[in-house]
Amino acid sequence: MSIYLDNAATSHPKPPQVYAAVLDVMQNIGASPGRGGYGLALEASRLLFETREALASFFGAADSSRIIFTHNATESLNLAVRGTLQSGDHVITSSMEHNSLLRPLFMLQKQGVELTVVPANVEGLLDPEDVRRALRPSTRLVALAHVSNVTGGIQPVAEIAAIASKAGALLLLDAAQSAGCLPIDMQALGIDLLAAPGHKGLLGPQGTGLLAVAPHVRLCPLLAGGTGSSSDQDLQPEGFPEGFEAGTHNLPGIAGLKAGVAFLAATGVETVGEREREHGNYLRERLAQLPGCCLYGPDNPEKRVGLLSLTMAGCDPAALSFMLDREYGIAVRAGLHCAPRAHRTIGSYPQGTLRISPGWFTTNVELDLCCTALATIIQKGSP
Ligand SMILES: Cc1ncc(COP(=O)(O)O)c(C=O)c1O
Repeated sequence: MSIYLDNAATSHPKPPQVYAAVLDVMQNIGASPGRGGYGLALEASRLLFETREALASFFGAADSSRIIFTHNATESLNLAVRGTLQSGDHVITSSMEHNSLLRPLFMLQKQGVELTVVPANVEGLLDPEDVRRALRPSTRLVALAHVSNVTGGIQPVAEIAAIASKAGALLLLDAAQSAGCLPIDMQALGIDLLAAPGHKGLLGPQGTGLLAVAPHVRLCPLLAGGTGSSSDQDLQPEGFPEGFEAGTHNLPGIAGLKAGVAFLAATGVETVGEREREHGNYLRERLAQLPGCCLYGPDNPEKRVGLLSLTMAGCDPAALSFMLDREYGIAVRAGLHCAPRAHRTIGSYPQGTLRISPGWFTTNVELDLCCTALATIIQKGSP
């Protein structure tokens, strides 16, 4: 038996409709969208269109043709920052970011983009006033994660978006840990670029992701290549979406993503988020009673999603996770979670934390087994 509590890395299991959709496309469509005039290729194109429409409606995006399919959140973030920033531009980010955002920004810094990393507080939360103070006349972009993948803390996005917009800067939201568990309305929140994986909270297969781009944003493509359109031209076509989707799509993955989003829309993102938050709160309450347990992230439950990070005094998080897996079949993640600066911010650098991330399909029995297993490991003596 295995218990999967690493949904912040990728969600598992998926709703049964997702598996069925992937298989159906592979068995019954198989063709590539936009690459032929025959019936199966047209069916494939229709599936792409319907998925863009579903995602635009799910995220309150103004124009579904500006939903770009990618292969993960990392590709979406790279496209967003490299597609909007030029040498001499200034970009603001935070100390809580994932390497998927930080590393492309540090690469751009080497090419002449100016970068400010605004520190968050010890709970991992940003003060919007610090973002305002970091603004410069050349600030082109403010880029940050909606929810930290280390603490589960929710950033004050609406306030920061208003500050960015007033200064004439774009807001890029990394929704890797919020898409599917917090309602996101791009237009209401003032988000100009929204990067999301399809394989985490959206419950789609691995190898899926998206970048949603507001109508006023000018974007340069990351990749050039075959688009199935304007084939006589030497240069990459400029139009949305095909100019940004060079090469063959992951159609089975996209079909699964469509099914995942349909499941969320039918169940309700609030319902899913609330259940995951209850799981997280329950784990926090139980684990806080263990001797030497230190929980990270905001104290206020309103400012957290379901994932949580902890350390146990005198215990190596990697050894704890190894024991949980080997002795109890429980999958959790230990270490820096690709966000080293977040750990420096909250005080868990360099050993990192043990991260437990329940999902929609996690049961109360699994949570109890995890708590009991951790208590037993601690009781037996530090691993
Ligand atoms: C906050 C954050 N941003 C970006 C990513 C990268 O996502 P992906 O693995 O889909 O590239 C992750 C993945 O854990 C994440 O947690």
